[in-house]
Amino acid sequence: MFRSALLAALSVSVTVVTAVSSQAYTWKNVKIGGGGGFVPNIVFNPSQKGLAFARTDIGGAYKLNSDDSWTPLLDFADDARWNYWGVDAIATDPVDPNRLYLTTGMYTNSWDPNNGQILISTDQGKTFTPSALPFKVGGNMPGRGMGERLAIDPNSHNILLFGARSGKGLWKSTDYGASWTQIKNFPSVGTYIPDPTDTSGYNSDIMGLSWVTFDTTSGSSGKATPRIFVGVANKGSDNVFVSNDAGSTWSAVAGQNNTFIPHKGVLSVAEKALYVSYSDGAGPYDGTSGSVWKYSIANSTWTDITPVSGGDLYFGFGGVAVDVQRPGTIMVAALNSWWPDGQIFRSTDGGATWTGLWAWESYPTLNRFYTYDDTLAPWIGPDRTITDLTMQIGWMMEGLSIDPFDSNHWLYGTGETIYGGHDLLKWDSGDTRNVTLKSLADGVEETSVQGLISPPSGPHLISAIGDVDGFVHNDLDKAPSVSFSNPTYSSSSDIDYAGNKPSTIVRVGTTTDGSQGKQVAISSDSGATWYVSQDYGAPDGVAGGKIAISADGDTILWKTSSNGIMVSQYTNPFSAVSSLPASAAIASDKRNNSIFYGADGSKFYVSTDGGKTFAAQGTLGTSTSPSKVIVHPNVTGDVWVSTDKGLFHSTNMGSSFAAISGVTQAWAIALGAPKTAGGYPALFAAANIGGVGYFRSDDAGANWVKINDAAHGFGSASANCLAADLRTYGRVYIGTNGRGIFYGDASGAAPAPTATLTSTIVSSTSATSTIVSSTSATSAPASSTTTVRTTSTASSAPAPTSSAAPIFGQCGGIGWTGATTCASMFCLLCSTEGEG
Ligand SMILES: *[C@@H]1O[C@H](CO)[C@@H](O)[C@H](O)[C@H]1NC(C)=O
Ligand SMILES: *[C@@H]1O[C@H](CO)[C@@H](O)[C@H](O)[C@H]1NC(C)=O
Ligand SMILES: *[C@@H]1O[C@H](CO)[C@@H](O)[C@H](O)[C@H]1NC(C)=O
Ligand SMILES: *[C@@H]1O[C@H](CO)[C@@H](O)[C@H](O)[C@H]1NC(C)=O
Ligand SMILES: *[C@@H]1O[C@H](CO)[C@@H](O)[C@H](O)[C@H]1NC(C)=O
Repeated sequence: MFRSALLAALSVSVTVVTAVSSQAYTWKNVKIGGGGGFVPNIVFNPSQKGLAFARTDIGGAYKLNSDDSWTPLLDFADDARWNYWGVDAIATDPVDPNRLYLTTGMYTNSWDPNNGQILISTDQGKTFTPSALPFKVGGNMPGRGMGERLAIDPNSHNILLFGARSGKGLWKSTDYGASWTQIKNFPSVGTYIPDPTDTSGYNSDIMGLSWVTFDTTSGSSGKATPRIFVGVANKGSDNVFVSNDAGSTWSAVAGQNNTFIPHKGVLSVAEKALYVSYSDGAGPYDGTSGSVWKYSIANSTWTDITPVSGGDLYFGFGGVAVDVQRPGTIMVAALNSWWPDGQIFRSTDGGATWTGLWAWESYPTLNRFYTYDDTLAPWIGPDRTITDLTMQIGWMMEGLSIDPFDSNHWLYGTGETIYGGHDLLKWDSGDTRNVTLKSLADGVEETSVQGLISPPSGPHLISAIGDVDGFVHNDLDKAPSVSFSNPTYSSSSDIDYAGNKPSTIVRVGTTTDGSQGKQVAISSDSGATWYVSQDYGAPDGVAGGKIAISADGDTILWKTSSNGIMVSQYTNPFSAVSSLPASAAIASDKRNNSIFYGADGSKFYVSTDGGKTFAAQGTLGTSTSPSKVIVHPNVTGDVWVSTDKGLFHSTNMGSSFAAISGVTQAWAIALGAPKTAGGYPALFAAANIGGVGYFRSDDAGANWVKINDAAHGFGSASANCLAADLRTYGRVYIGTNGRGIFYGDASGAAPAPTATLTSTIVSSTSATSTIVSSTSATSAPASSTTTVRTTSTASSAPAPTSSAAPIFGQCGGIGWTGATTCASMFCLLCSTEGEG
């Protein structure tokens, strides 16, 4: 009882009704072009000419346009629906091409707490209705290139089958995907696990079923298709199963060779054959051996049609395509031929003989039977040289398709892009074959953005990006011609500019094995060229994390991924900074050359000696994990910190902080050009302000407008980064985890600051907050969203600020030593909490 009473006394529940107005914004991708990430599969609809979809592992799905460009379909996915961007399977309806199904969910381990869902569209992906699944889906898990795991019965298109991961088995819907039940007598849920010892769960889950293929040569329209093939990720035990009675009973297909894992099962209707590609791993990165088999359905005979053997067979097989207009014309991709390049094989005689996209003339001379065209993404091609990788054709090639209406049109997905062309039949002219291999990922923006800067002069945007290093974005609407080079890192994890010398920038790479040199690089010409002298100061084997450069560009503070915080001045060797915790968020002052900042837990730290030593300053309320520290570009000591408990502002070098009222959580934050000359910079935040979204404040956090809309969710808020343009008021750049970079400009009038607040305070009976009553907000504009939320007030309060609390700011309470004159119309905290 006493404990309860004490908790009740300490905890007060507050019902806040906040009206945050919206301002219309125009959102566009910053064009990088060329995708920038893994495209596990591309699926053509067999009935409607030109209809095709591509799926990605972290950036949603896309629809193909007639001009070869792609339109994203899942940009509405917001923080709550971030796992929609992991697309593990696509099915496009052969009977009603308007129907499209996506199986979505990101991880089957703890990284994604959510179950998966089937997204159902009846308008080719313009809109979707989710159908919840009772298990997780692994759009970004190992084995994500196998499939498709989801298939529509071509004779009775209300029927769908889905082959699940994680030992969940085979599932069936008979109502167009709305509800699902398990086919319990399906003989195998899968046994293959890439690495049973992986404690993260990422590589230790059962891969499960790998593909489902209806045999359209069996059955007739209007009745469930009797013959169905299903592949299962088993190695060394039965792994291709068949039903001949529409899924009532199942058996292993006789005569199969189950040495390797079946990745694809593609039907050739005209040949009445099933082509199966196999690899010795689940993919997408692995595969050191494999095979390709053809199963003749008419006489139940398997034939090994593996294109290469002996020493030439050092990879598994992924993508398989059949040309439905040319029976016997088939193609298969080496899943990963890391050297000398990726490889694709084509046969016009059902697999009896094959030709490749390249062949050794006489070692080491290579004949490439294609012309490379990277005009849509010039940075992706031969201009790009990764220290240990000079591949054009690609890797992770699980998705390979020939347009069912056009034998010349083909597309395939790689670990980095979509390639293909419109003159595929040129392949069939023997040793003079010369097809065009073109980057065809225009519109696919799949990068995982790690850092963005918008310096006050020079290029408006420079990025640090996972897997493709990063770019100077001289033209936001045009694919860059080059990515960062010399040094080229496979990934950059952060970037910063020197406030007093904005053309001096620093970036950090993520490779620890030495193959890409030392992992800190400096540019003094805004990223056009980089110099390596900084390399001398960087220790071997240390990489990643976050980086901050002093205002004069002389000193670099580095929060490494695994070696704590380090600092280097004048390119001298980095030394450890023991007075700042390894997990701290870091930043440099943009004006004073010797000042750096850090935030960790509820503590804020300042260094005035060029990052050598830090001392704790004011506190950040009850925060436990600060996300970002940003600094006013013109004013020393004017800093903002976003945390799990809100947004905090200091104008006195972090001696004290004001908690910004109404902001309950914040992640990426940025300061940009002020609305009026001389005014406070526009403040942008990925935050929870009566709901998670993207917000702008023109008055240092007193009033906010929401700037994203229902069509632009930007996925996981905590994974994203922001930069605000320092020269164009209102412009913000959002770097996403899988959908590239967006830039937004205000397109609608800014609403007058109409956000109003009415609060009711009620003592709760336990530590758990309870809404007892709430009063309504004063009338909000039509465009606003009104959200009710509850907050428990902190018992330890932010440090004092100036005498007047901001509007809606805390103005009293236990431990509160700040202003007690409330700026808002009601001050309920002041009186009630004092009773504690
Ligand atoms: C099964 O496949 C493996 C790998 O391709 C091969 O070594 C083996 O000879 C095959 N077995 C039969 C019976 O064909
Ligand atoms: C099975 O049928 C296929 C396709 O008609 C044919 O190529 C193959 O020779 C047949 N195999 C046997 C053993 O009859
Ligand atoms: C291949 O075709 C392109 C034009 O499409 C041409 O520029 C190139 O010279 C040709 N290569 C060979 C080896 O014939
Ligand atoms: C920069 O900050 C340090 C430490 O607070 C101070 O001593 C120095 O005077 C400042 N430099 C300038 C140019 O304001
Ligand atoms: C910084 O100061 C310059 C010069 O007064 C001004 O043009 C610019 O808008 C200021 N930047 C911000 C973000 O306030």
